[in-house]
Amino acid sequence: MGEKEQSTGGPHFVGKRDELIAAKRSFRTLEGRDILIVYHQRVFYALDSYCYHAGGKLQNGDIEEIDSKLCIICPKHKYKISLAEGEGLYKGTDPTQKPSVPRWYSKGVKQRVHMVTETDGEVYVRLSTHTGWIESDYFQGEKGKVEREKV
Ligand code: FES
Repeated sequence: MGEKEQSTGGPHFVGKRDELIAAKRSFRTLEGRDILIVYHQRVFYALDSYCYHAGGKLQNGDIEEIDSKLCIICPKHKYKISLAEGEGLYKGTDPTQKPSVPRWYSKGVKQRVHMVTETDGEVYVRLSTHTGWIESDYFQGEKGKVEREKV
């Protein structure tokens, strides 16, 4: 990160719009952080590249709509992560409800997501500046691991 201790997050140029659309999934390393840029249904998303559960490579995950949210499915153990928010979703039942019909629940934000902007056919990513711990930080090298120990 050079002389700056504190990241401003960007924006970082990540590619031409047309190239990123053709690629659909693009991997970039920004300020030492590995990011996946996804183009799906005319929208760009950017999120940490390694799944918060055990570091699976989301680059190879399918995308499905779950509970009205577009999610990437981690290829390793099939965890579902919303593309827009980084929420972990799971299916469960509420035993207090009769009949207890399975439905989708949120575990909250587990995967760090980043902001994508476009200017004149160029695409930029501004890294999340959320200061709290997000579980996917763990798979982003030593810095993430150190931050986890403080929690
Ligand atoms: Fe992604 Fe386990 S590593 S679901």
